[in-house]
Amino acid sequence: MLNSFFKENIEDILDHIQDGIHIVDSSGKIIYYNRLAAELDNINPEEAIGRHILEIYPSLTEETSTILKVMKSGKPILNYQQSFKNYKGVKITTVNSTIPVIVGKKVIGALEVSRDITEVKKLSEKVVDLQAELLKEGKNEKKYDGHKAFYNFGDLIGASEQMLKLKKDAMTVSNSPSPVMVYGETGTGKELLVHAIHNASPRRDKPFIAQNCAALPESLLESILFGTVKGSFTGAETRPGLFEIADGGTLFLDEINSMSMQLQAKLLRVIQDGNVRRVGDTRTVHVDVRIMTAINVDPRLALQEKTLRDDLFFRLSVISLKMPALRERREDIPVLVRHFIKKYNKRMGKNVAKVEESVQAFFMAYAWPGNVRELEHAVEGAMNMAEGRQIDSGCLPYYLMDAFNRLDQKEEDQEIKSLKNNIRQLERNLIEKAMQKSGGNITRAAQLLEVPRQTLQYKIGKYRIKTIDAEF
Ligand SMILES: Nc1ncnc2c1ncn2[C@@H]1O[C@H](COP(=O)(O)OP(=O)(O)OP(=O)(O)O)[C@@H](O)[C@H]1O
Ligand SMILES: [Mg+2]
Repeated sequence: MLNSFFKENIEDILDHIQDGIHIVDSSGKIIYYNRLAAELDNINPEEAIGRHILEIYPSLTEETSTILKVMKSGKPILNYQQSFKNYKGVKITTVNSTIPVIVGKKVIGALEVSRDITEVKKLSEKVVDLQAELLKEGKNEKKYDGHKAFYNFGDLIGASEQMLKLKKDAMTVSNSPSPVMVYGETGTGKELLVHAIHNASPRRDKPFIAQNCAALPESLLESILFGTVKGSFTGAETRPGLFEIADGGTLFLDEINSMSMQLQAKLLRVIQDGNVRRVGDTRTVHVDVRIMTAINVDPRLALQEKTLRDDLFFRLSVISLKMPALRERREDIPVLVRHFIKKYNKRMGKNVAKVEESVQAFFMAYAWPGNVRELEHAVEGAMNMAEGRQIDSGCLPYYLMDAFNRLDQKEEDQEIKSLKNNIRQLERNLIEKAMQKSGGNITRAAQLLEVPRQTLQYKIGKYRIKTIDAEF
């Protein structure tokens, strides 16, 4: 039944997808157009269906239409970035994947899925332009004042042995130009550490540029990193990439394992010789950039799962640092809590002094899957609720309250268990005493304990209390 529902309603389903979908038959005629594709192209689907693809997109040719190319070659073209003007003259940028539809050995059509990245592209380029602009201004002055790393080693709070060693190691390598890779779970403070290293390095007055590799589609990330030159086909403008902007300073690539393997290969080439080629350019520019990367899965796992190229990994992890999870350094919890209370007292104009004992015990026992970030938000949230000078369990956000109650329950269960143990121990002691007093006489001991003889006999067996042979 679901099957037939699916078949009957497939067009409705496809109309709700956030990607544009075109299907073309072997003669190049459009046979299907979903709602989003119609919106992207600003074409009424009724007008487009049945017409040849080059009629609908007059700016395309046999050579430049990915759909026609794929039908000719029978091979898919994946994640291809394209900029074009739609019927209304609006410039649109999409990332497309075009797949031939093959039955037997014959290509009977092609299907193209397009994702609109116009807004993302505009925003990312605006950021790059602003960065370039600031860099220009900064160059006219003595000291670069554009992109700064905000944090220093002093901001990295922690008194545990692990954190002290990490800070010491990180300070030592600050002077080096070698790449740094920081591994740690989410919220452990990787970004803080990278900032601190840059600020302690001889590059501190030069740009610090950060880019998250998971935030952008591959083709856009490539042009943002390496820059572009004006090209009629790709629709790109001439702009420097982050490598050029970061020249002399540090480029921080966050979530490096989210970068596609192809782009990782290109990145490796640039890092190896320091020469950057803008997308669509024939010339290269030499840059001096220290690369720092962060990864929130174990790099060994990323290598195994092939989300990280091993050649790139070895190049990037010349200096490799691990941020321990908060649950592996619980001594840091009270120190961090104090730090955050101070921070938010100042911000909120409050006068909170401490955390109630049971909440403190909960903080020490909780697993903190979101690490320091989660702890900071918990303290901030609780301080919003706190009325007096103390944070008690009622101030906790509801999801932590549940965990708090579960922990409370567990402790109570343990107490009950130990109460049973204590009673058993007491009972055993009393029986032993009574048996000694009665000289091993069970009947007499039962009288002393005011229990039936049979019960005592049973308990003696249960506790394996030694009896004196004499009575038997
Ligand atoms: N040692 C620390 N001392 C003080 N604050 C910290 C510390 N570690 C983390 N924080 C706080 O937690 C927040 C998260 O840290 P950060 O952004 O560096 O984590 P991350 O490891 O980069 O996480 P993600 O993998 O999610 O990007 C920071 O904004 C900071 O406020
Ligand atoms: Mg981060």
